[in-house]
Amino acid sequence: MMPSFEIRPATAADLPFITGIYEHAVRYGTATFELIPPDLAEMTRRFGALIDGGFPYFAASLEGRVVGYAYAGAYRPRPAYRFTVENSVYLQPAIHRRGIGLQLLQRLIAECDARGYRQMIAVIGDSANAGSIGVHTKCGFQMIGTHPNVGFKFGRWLDTVMMQRPLGDGGSTLPAEHGTQY
Ligand SMILES: CC(C)(COP(=O)(O)OP(=O)(O)OC[C@H]1O[C@@H](n2cnc3c(N)ncnc32)[C@H](O)[C@@H]1OP(=O)(O)O)[C@@H](O)C(=O)NCCC(=O)NCCS
Repeated sequence: MMPSFEIRPATAADLPFITGIYEHAVRYGTATFELIPPDLAEMTRRFGALIDGGFPYFAASLEGRVVGYAYAGAYRPRPAYRFTVENSVYLQPAIHRRGIGLQLLQRLIAECDARGYRQMIAVIGDSANAGSIGVHTKCGFQMIGTHPNVGFKFGRWLDTVMMQRPLGDGGSTLPAEHGTQY
């Protein structure tokens, strides 16, 4: 029998699992430049801020357990950036390389596109993060460049790799709602 798998909007009930997945990434990985894992209360606060801000947040569930998640948030807080989002995607290590990251990212892209965002930016922790660079490339992101040695974690300098993908019409048309002067 095929295992049941779905990608669906995340809910508050998923946050204990999501907090655990992110805790592992903070403690052992260089994809995130956080050094101390945020607790459930902080992850709940961040989730609420994203949902209230109109951003999508998805969970991947395999046989009833959350095994990954992806969300988009503001790329930068200043308002002229309001059509540009930054994405995040994290999986449980045990289920890497089975296409789940790809499906999560594709779903996130489709939803951000539908919500009218025009650019998605990935700020990838560490030039050695072949999995993240690979999945973003497969989703149509282009390499913008590398900020060398901007992070320091686990006793070594870390790069960030910037990748970007247009959503919808990208920059070729004006957004429907943009105000008369702005
Ligand atoms: C990055 C991550 C989300 C990718 O998810 P995944 O489910 O393992 O990746 P997928 O199986 O969907 O891979 C899709 C494609 O990406 C590429 N890819 C994935 N992992 C790769 C790797 N380790 N090396 C090279 N290419 C890779 C391949 O093109 C792959 O397609 P293929 O398997 O048909 O060749 C996952 O590895 C992860 O959670 N990593 C730790 C956290 C992280 O780095 N998050 C990104 C933050 S920006």
